[in-house]
Amino acid sequence: MTISYPGAAITGWGLALPDKIVTNADYEARIETSDAWIVERTGIRERRHGGTTGGLAVEAGQAALDKAGIGGSDIDLLVLATTTPDQAVPATSATVHAKLGLTGAAFDLNAACAGYVYGVVTAVSMLGLGYRRALVIGSDTLSRITDQEDRGTAVLFADGAGAVVIEARDDRPLLLSHDLGLDGSLVSILCCDHGGYIFMEGREVFRRAVRASVDSAQKVLDAAGVTADDISLYVPHQANQRIIDAAVQRLGIAPEKAAIVLDRTGNTSAGSMGIALAEAADEGRLKEGDLVLLSGFGAGMTWASAVLRWGS
Ligand code: ACO
Repeated sequence: MTISYPGAAITGWGLALPDKIVTNADYEARIETSDAWIVERTGIRERRHGGTTGGLAVEAGQAALDKAGIGGSDIDLLVLATTTPDQAVPATSATVHAKLGLTGAAFDLNAACAGYVYGVVTAVSMLGLGYRRALVIGSDTLSRITDQEDRGTAVLFADGAGAVVIEARDDRPLLLSHDLGLDGSLVSILCCDHGGYIFMEGREVFRRAVRASVDSAQKVLDAAGVTADDISLYVPHQANQRIIDAAVQRLGIAPEKAAIVLDRTGNTSAGSMGIALAEAADEGRLKEGDLVLLSGFGAGMTWASAVLRWGS
């Protein structure tokens, strides 16, 4: 099937991290772990804790609006990807909508750590229905649902948000290909009950994550008719440096093309790829026409990848 994507461009981006830095040394002082183990097995050196999902989303969203040079009332669609909504009802997007002064449609989307890419693909699709300017935000406060005494999860999960403004364009595609997936038979390897803490079979998630992200990324490269060499920036989900290293190696992507923030942020779930993309854009790592590969996986298990053409 040949897909005709609606024309679109990313015109703004932003990120938000809480002020409180939690270092590996902080965990060394509290639980049975070591900086050496955490760095070697995950690549994480520090992470940020604090704030609310809505508050971080507002900060990242406002930064993206400012970068695009538009106001909240110019947005007619908000897609907020999150696994950690601030309350059961209403959706966190409602509070973000109010604080940013939005006037259009808004909803939450939960596809765990793949939520950011699910959000981008959903927003671009809806531009094809006549929406003109979408704000896509991935925001999570995983520290709230992580048992800080459990060394298998505490050192990994943290808080943060990333956002992009995507505007309709008549003549240029943003998405060249996409892949969204889920294997619901794997619910039990990474899950969290209401009011509980995250349970994770780390080794099994690791194994599945490498396979899912490599297969999904290869699928979108093939569908876009491009090779790993054509990609200028690889934005993987920031869960574990060893997962990223394995994916880079199997896909044949030059390691320096990967956007990495997890050493400073830990795993911020739906926030992670938006944060990494915004930081890379702020650092001037992207120029007009560059191809960007986004690829993530998460609880569900979900996975999602896309090839984007950067530019206005
Ligand atoms: N410090 C010290 N030792 C630890 C720690 C820690 N923080 N955590 C686990 N260990 C121990 C284990 O208890 C185990 O000890 P044992 O052999 O005595 O039983 C040993 O280290 C090895 O444990 P493994 O689980 O095999 O360690 P592994 O190298 O697989 O690393 C990790 C564990 C980091 C959790 C890894 O499996 C991983 O990253 N998995 C994927 C996690 C992931 O990506 N999750 C996000 C999904 S996205 C989302 O939706 C949230």
